[in-house]
Amino acid sequence: MTLEAFATKIRTCREIVFFTGAGISTESGIPDFRSPGGIWTRYSPVYFDDFVSSESERVRYWKMKKESLETYKKDVRPNIGHYSIKAFEDRGQLLGLITQNVDGLHSIAGVSEEKIVELHGTDRKVVCLQCGKYYPANEIYKRLVGDFTPPVCDECGGLLKPATVSFGQQMPVEAMRRAQELSESAEMFVVVGTSLQVQPAASFPVIAKRSGAFLAIINRDPTPLDSLADFNHRGAIGEFFRELTRLLADS
Ligand code: APR
Repeated sequence: MTLEAFATKIRTCREIVFFTGAGISTESGIPDFRSPGGIWTRYSPVYFDDFVSSESERVRYWKMKKESLETYKKDVRPNIGHYSIKAFEDRGQLLGLITQNVDGLHSIAGVSEEKIVELHGTDRKVVCLQCGKYYPANEIYKRLVGDFTPPVCDECGGLLKPATVSFGQQMPVEAMRRAQELSESAEMFVVVGTSLQVQPAASFPVIAKRSGAFLAIINRDPTPLDSLADFNHRGAIGEFFRELTRLLADS
């Protein structure tokens, strides 16, 4: 299917679900995980059980988060990919947005909070694993100076952790329920900027396809679900959305 034919198709869809990964934020200056230079090529992940049981692993985790936030969180702004999804909402075409990203850029681009499902949580908040109290992330990062000890909750002394889902950590039940519901009811399911390597997130495009959705995958590198897709675009996300926006404006 050509991009022109895809534009003709997506123009008529009223219930589009977008499913995004780190690839949609790289053109905003945030590295992804598995591309050359990505996060997992520079750090090894801290698994949840190790975070809970080992102080040294907690220190390693907070150092990794602090370093990566310092390298890219200065003036990070949404890019045309985030704003294009917002434009679909403005046209009344967005049924929902499932994101694996924790950078909050979809929300900053203006997509309504009630439309966003953050499967892997958010870096914008820090949570106490014991009492569930939330803190603004920057308030906690300010405590991480010098040879810091891992931060604990002011209320109960419990372990604090960014409100993201680490490997080995339980997935958020409500987010999973909403993602399942959106995947089952999507008319078109558009995957953008993900290697589709991580479960259970990577199961939602399959559920959508099996439930009758038109499946589109926009990604620079091949993904395991390419053969399942009705439309594949192999290329840069920014360029794709510039071209798609032009084609939709021409209508
Ligand atoms: N244009 C198009 N595609 C891009 C671009 C770009 N500008 N930048 C990156 N990509 C693609 C890469 O080709 C890659 O396949 O985005 C994909 C990003 O894949 P990953 O780095 O694996 O990120 P993601 O799929 O979101 O990872 C899923 O893994 O570590 C966990 O919790 C983490 O949510 C994350 C999950």
